[in-house]
Amino acid sequence: MSSPKHVAIIMDGNGRWGIKKKKSRNFGHKQGVKVVEKIISESIKKKINYLTLFAFSTENWKRPKKEINFLIYLLERYVDKELNKLIEKKVRLKIIGNLNKFPTSLKRKLKKSEQMTKNNNKIQLNIALNYGSKEEIVKSVKKINKLSLPINSKNISKYLYTSNIPDPEILIRTGNRYRLSNFLLWQASYTEIFFIKKLWPDFNKKDFNKIISYFSKVRRNFGGIR
Ligand code: FPP
Repeated sequence: MSSPKHVAIIMDGNGRWGIKKKKSRNFGHKQGVKVVEKIISESIKKKINYLTLFAFSTENWKRPKKEINFLIYLLERYVDKELNKLIEKKVRLKIIGNLNKFPTSLKRKLKKSEQMTKNNNKIQLNIALNYGSKEEIVKSVKKINKLSLPINSKNISKYLYTSNIPDPEILIRTGNRYRLSNFLLWQASYTEIFFIKKLWPDFNKKDFNKIISYFSKVRRNFGGIR
């Protein structure tokens, strides 16, 4: 069974999960990180080449300061705690998005982690941070214009954050919401989208594998009648 090369995920529902458990939204985010770790391992097992996770959108700055700070803390802690494991697992880390607005300590850690993992080849983990698809497309067009290149689809793709990364075959959104929320709008033009009712902290390996194997079967059928 052939796996997709690139899977992208909108990990929605952490806040609601925390509240449902009669705890805080931040409790939900903390639980969400545990699921991230499991899905990375599963993606490696499935020989997926690229996994893109939407961790912080350009719109997330509208959230209460306490929640923003906690998300930043979680990311920083994730890098501190997990970098060695990522190296062991031969994960190459790449951040997509505009890091300018984040604290210098986090920016430094992320840059260092990208540098330290750049030759790893088991999987590329793209973490989307302060990422917004519309901003990404505008930036790309501006860059093309500055270089006096023709504005065409090939060049727009080339100057996105995801330059050199194949478009995702699968995009998963948990949390029972049926929208793309400014995530990979350009890259997902032909992507199979799976909207999952479960909240992200409840999403598990079995759910993930079901999607991967369903997709692989559909693809095989398409191959037969093409
Ligand atoms: C969406 O849930 C989730 C986020 C905005 C943050 C996702 C971040 C993590 C899982 C932690 C950090 C990630 C990594 C890669 C270490 P929501 O808060 O919008 O949920 P809601 O719809 O219930 O409010």
